[in-house]
Amino acid sequence: MKQIRIGVIGYGYWGPNLVRNFNDDSRADVAYVCDPQAAMLEKHRTRYKSVKFTSDLDELLLDKELDAVAIATPVDTHYSLAKAALEAGKHVLIEKPLCRTSSQGQELVNIAAERKLVLMVDHTFIYHGPIRLIKKLILQADLGEILFFNSVRVNLGNFQRDVNVLWDLGAHDLAIMDYLIGKRPREVFAIGSAHTDSQLADIAYLTMKFERDLIAHVNASWLSPVKVRQIVIGGTRRMIVFDDNSQVEKVKIYDKGIENMNLNLPTTASQIYSSRIQYRHGDMVAPVYDVTEALRVAVRHFLDCVTTGETPITDGAAGVRVVRMLEQADVSLASGKVTSYAAGNDDV
Ligand SMILES: NC(=O)c1ccc[n+]([C@@H]2O[C@H](COP(=O)([O-])OP(=O)(O)OC[C@H]3O[C@@H](n4cnc5c(N)ncnc54)[C@H](O)[C@@H]3O)[C@@H](O)[C@H]2O)c1
Repeated sequence: MKQIRIGVIGYGYWGPNLVRNFNDDSRADVAYVCDPQAAMLEKHRTRYKSVKFTSDLDELLLDKELDAVAIATPVDTHYSLAKAALEAGKHVLIEKPLCRTSSQGQELVNIAAERKLVLMVDHTFIYHGPIRLIKKLILQADLGEILFFNSVRVNLGNFQRDVNVLWDLGAHDLAIMDYLIGKRPREVFAIGSAHTDSQLADIAYLTMKFERDLIAHVNASWLSPVKVRQIVIGGTRRMIVFDDNSQVEKVKIYDKGIENMNLNLPTTASQIYSSRIQYRHGDMVAPVYDVTEALRVAVRHFLDCVTTGETPITDGAAGVRVVRMLEQADVSLASGKVTSYAAGNDDV
């Protein structure tokens, strides 16, 4: 079978992980790495001998034999690079977040659709074993009706120069929330603080309200002495704690909750007793999950989609939904007010 020829654009922190994973997949042939910092690339030439390192993007775009590109550059460059690649007829895997505005994102979705090309956003956590397990549990209704989603993603750094901490770290949580819950928030409220001259919030708290009292919160920070990666999802039947820092048992399912949610004002003594909230303290189970590196699964999925024409799980529309939530968060950060989520074509 013919290998899929790939060019990786951007070889800073994340780009090498894409090169490694594509290189490890026998269906892919990493033909190019493109990054303007040619000097920095020099030391990698020996590691991947068959890969051409270049600072000239046109070399990739004009190569008719190149099937696809993977883009791992700063967010501000995503739209123009992805547009150029799609217009040159290349399938695109692009790092999160898709781009800077939902209208740019929608344009990319449209170009990919017109040209029948794959546009996949690397929302890496959607391919992470624990998150796939949680999705399965939610689909099986093991949690019951979802009541809340609460995520903490804090550590020291890496301060970005082009986006605030929600666009950097929070984008992961919004992608996870979008995938697991599958609903759009009705209201978005964000507050944040910038502690450097960049004026970009390095600590931000994002709260979202959905229909039927579902509530979500994302705490994202580049200014924390410790690294915390924790998501708690509460349902009417069970609750889940996902601790990505844990070496084992990253997912714990608690049979805990409240039994009586009817708090209508009681009038008689027996009604007062029966209307009391009952707490359920049941078992905890820690199920097994696939431990394959998430990016390896994502890369495999991208290659599947290029081969079969299947729509990626994290397609352009998923990327646009995340960008739209981030846009709303920015409006709220700037105004200090709750903003309504503006639905678009991607909201079905
Ligand atoms: N999926 C994940 O878990 C994950 C993790 C980290 C970063 N990311 C994403 O990856 C992207 C890159 O982040 P990073 O931390 O690697 O950044 P980085 O600054 O370390 O690297 C970016 C690289 O892109 C290069 N570059 C800049 N403009 C370019 C252009 N026009 N053409 C080609 N190369 C160009 C830079 O020279 C640099 O080497 C961001 O979108 C970020 O959100 C994703």
